[in-house]
Amino acid sequence: MPEFQYDPEGLSVNTPPDRIAELLDATREAFAGGSLIRLKLGGYHGAEPELKAVEVKKIATKAGEKYSFTYKYKTRDTIKNYAEDEALALLGDGLATEFRSAQLATTDFDMMYERNGAKQRLKRAQAEGREAPSTEHNRAKNRPLSETGKPWLKALGLSGKNGAIRHDAQDKFRQINKMVEIFAPLVASLKAEPPLIVDMGAGKGYLDFALYDYLATVVKRPVRIVGVEMRPQLVEDGNATAKDSGFDGLSFEAGAIMDYDASGADAVIALHACDTATDDAIYKGISAGAALIAVAPCCHKQIRRQMEAGRPDQTLEPLLRHGIFVERQAEMVTDTLRALLLELNGYKTRVFEFVSDAHTPKNNLIVAEKDGRMGRDRDAVLSQIGAIKATFGIGEHYLESLIDR
Ligand SMILES: C[S@@+](CC[C@H](N)C(=O)[O-])C[C@H]1O[C@@H](n2cnc3c(N)ncnc32)[C@H](O)[C@@H]1O
Repeated sequence: MPEFQYDPEGLSVNTPPDRIAELLDATREAFAGGSLIRLKLGGYHGAEPELKAVEVKKIATKAGEKYSFTYKYKTRDTIKNYAEDEALALLGDGLATEFRSAQLATTDFDMMYERNGAKQRLKRAQAEGREAPSTEHNRAKNRPLSETGKPWLKALGLSGKNGAIRHDAQDKFRQINKMVEIFAPLVASLKAEPPLIVDMGAGKGYLDFALYDYLATVVKRPVRIVGVEMRPQLVEDGNATAKDSGFDGLSFEAGAIMDYDASGADAVIALHACDTATDDAIYKGISAGAALIAVAPCCHKQIRRQMEAGRPDQTLEPLLRHGIFVERQAEMVTDTLRALLLELNGYKTRVFEFVSDAHTPKNNLIVAEKDGRMGRDRDAVLSQIGAIKATFGIGEHYLESLIDR
């Protein structure tokens, strides 16, 4: 590797990999020496439409020190932690392709990297009087819910007598925090004051308690959350815990999703509501004209059965020969049709990974935001729906039958 040299004004122009390698070397040294404040990648021009920047910090985890990447999207942040080799490989690739600029801040110096076509610049400036943030502090800051002594955490079995998160509930707690990270920005875009959020198939209400706690105590935005759940005992327990927690705006109602009157809901959400219960939730959201519908679907039996019983296009035979692939195709087809049906009803729809599949393989989140306008021709969407159904041998998506009736 050629030696790195700075030009007299602090600017240097050299071959592209050297500038990136130099920046990454400096990052690695700062990480190892505890002087890293942050590395921020900007000027994104890759395939993800809403990604704005990536911020990298050092954090302490149970598995050791990691590079924590915060992916900053237009309306949300997602965080992923990586070991050093993986982190540096990702940064190297990203800087060579999708990001045009980076700023490294350490306690001793800053580095600014810029790429314009084949030209690259790296500028360094000394810094003084800065302290590196503690990695423990970063860990707490990375989690929306950092206080663990809450009654609801205990009632849901996540924390023990001493108020600390139980050893065997660490993953669940991380997962809940991740949910809050995803949902809080979505709720922030709701205009109603206070917004009404209806969670269909709420179960024990993990998300509802976490989101309510975060919005009420951290963001301090009044909100009303109703969890609809068919199992009465869960509803009773949830209401008792909400009362104990002083969460006046959180309640649970017993009953089936389809029997619940969702009029006035600003957001309808459903996490892992079984099979077509997800469609019931989407339908209720569409009927209520909710500004936001967000669902993480569970099993996809209705479409799978039709794919197996119907006459899919012959060219799909190898793709549908193995049970495991039929399951995955059913998931993609079901959720693609849901996304298209939402689009048909005036929702701008995105699908992305919800929680890491280390927690559950059911990790798609469909987020639909009502903008009232069809982004494209209605007939074009209808014809795509028709073509997918014909190709996969599907008679009718259950959600279609709800919307059409
Ligand atoms: C897999 S659990 C998920 C619970 C919760 N949303 C979560 O992510 O932790 C699905 C829940 O939805 C409830 N459920 C399923 N179908 C329902 C329906 N049609 N109406 C109301 N609740 C339903 C079940 O009783 C169950 O508690």
